[in-house]
Amino acid sequence: MQALLSTEAVLVESYVGPGEERSLADDVLDGLTRPFKELPPKHFYDAAGAELFDRICELPEYYPTRAERAILEDRSAEIVAATGAAELVELGSGTAAKTRLLLTAMTEAGTLRRYVPVDVTEAMVLECADALVDEFPGLRVHGIVGDFERHLRHVPEPDGPRVVAFLGGTIGNFTPGSRRRFLRGLAKLLRPGVDHLLLGSDLVKDPAIIEAAYDDSAGVTAEFNRNVLRVINRELDADFDVDAFEHVAFFDREREWVEMRLRAQRRMDVEVRQLGLTVAFAPREELRTEISAKFTVDRLRGDLAAAGLELRDVLTDPDDLFALSLSSPR
Ligand code: SAH
Ligand code: TRP
Repeated sequence: MQALLSTEAVLVESYVGPGEERSLADDVLDGLTRPFKELPPKHFYDAAGAELFDRICELPEYYPTRAERAILEDRSAEIVAATGAAELVELGSGTAAKTRLLLTAMTEAGTLRRYVPVDVTEAMVLECADALVDEFPGLRVHGIVGDFERHLRHVPEPDGPRVVAFLGGTIGNFTPGSRRRFLRGLAKLLRPGVDHLLLGSDLVKDPAIIEAAYDDSAGVTAEFNRNVLRVINRELDADFDVDAFEHVAFFDREREWVEMRLRAQRRMDVEVRQLGLTVAFAPREELRTEISAKFTVDRLRGDLAAAGLELRDVLTDPDDLFALSLSSPR
């Protein structure tokens, strides 16, 4: 652990080493030497990736952010009243844009004590900690720079009734098995009878609406997807010809998830110099970069139950695009 910042109001701790940042080298070595190439999505979010993601959230086609924001605008006071939340722990907090609605409702209820953002991108945790203590006088921020799949044990002991928020539909980025494993680990942060999970999940709907959200006409999502190759070029001294990869997004109707891939437009040998690795791509060969699962309330209830969590309430936007659910340990 490395303390990055420690003042009266803010403590930020990092659990990712500088060189080994997000275990990118391991993931590249593992994922690009498989028969079906694949990379985990956490590597999208360097500074450029975070900026592209912000632009995705503003796209007319990308409805999840707007829908989730609409629910929070409408129901934050109710969520705070139902949970008595004094502390908000947020996984994959990013810029905490929608989180402010919850923190405001906690302020208005007079319960707000502490915010604990957890994100793999150091700059995001530092910047949002800094901004939030200014915006919310009296708030303490304990930030964790780390991987929410590996570092949840470093989340501090609760300080009053706790809500763990996992927003943005990021839960959909796990495959079903690892999703349940992740929820089991997350449930350990919650005390029965006191704490709650607030989970944002995108809902199953018309595939055309879903596919447009992941393949916008301005090409921002395509740029975001290709950004992972730029990250590898920079961090691992690789020579991906980034523009030779085409963005592919489709809704798998059977599995009810969107798959994002990058398709090589010609044969290529990519050198990853830091790993002494050559990765061959056949023409039209695809590399899977992300899945984004869409949920029904039944699937949600089942996944939560498998982690020992009971679904208490499901809040949706007027068009039933997105769901915010409240659950708690049984
Ligand atoms: N919660 C925000 C941001 C969602 S984007 C919203 O709803 O708009 C996903 C965020 O999760 C990014 O900030 C990314 O850096 C972070 N993230 C992705 N994988 C992660 C991991 N394994 N551990 C910690 N943070 C992760
Ligand atoms: N977690 C977001 C989602 O599943 C992230 C995201 C939006 C994303 N668009 C993307 C990830 C395109 C990769 C490519 O909706």
